[in-house]
Amino acid sequence: MNQNRSDLYQTTINQAKVLLEGESDAVANMANLSALLHQTFGFWWVGFYLIKEGELVLGPFQGPVACTRIKIGKGVCGTSAENQETLIVPNVHEFEGHIACSSESNSEIVVPMIRKGKVFGVLDIDSKSFDDFSEVDKEALELIVQNLIEKW
Ligand code: SME
Repeated sequence: MNQNRSDLYQTTINQAKVLLEGESDAVANMANLSALLHQTFGFWWVGFYLIKEGELVLGPFQGPVACTRIKIGKGVCGTSAENQETLIVPNVHEFEGHIACSSESNSEIVVPMIRKGKVFGVLDIDSKSFDDFSEVDKEALELIVQNLIEKW
C-alpha cells in the first residue's frame, strides 16, 4: 500500500509544481493544494492553519467544517507549530489534548510551514483510517509545503 501511495505522491508532487508555477497568490495555492491532496488520496480533511495574532487560524481546506482557532501548543496542530516539526499521530484518541473537529478522524499528520526559522502556519491532514500516515507521507508533504512556501 505504501508503494502505491509513494507512486501517487510522485504524480501529486509534479501536479503541485505545475499548479504552483502558474500562480503566486498564497490563498489560491493553499486552496488548490488542499483540493489536490483531498481528491487524490481521499483523505477525510485537508487544510491549512495560519498564525495570526499568536494563534492558528483556519485557512483554505477541503472536508467538513473545522475548528477556526487553535492556540500554539494545543492539539496536534498547535504542538507541531510550537515544536516546529512534523507530527504523525497514528491514533488521535491517544494523543493528549487532541482537538476533535470531527469524530470521524482517527489519525493525523501535521506539517509546519517554516520560513527563516519561524513557523507561520501548518498543513493538517486527517484520515478516517487508523495509522494512515508514515514517513512516505511526511517526506512528500514536507516537499509540497516547501514548494508552496517558496512561492509565498
Ligand atoms: N485535530 C487537530 C485540529 C484541527 S482538525 O483536525 C481539522 C488538532 O488536534 O490540532
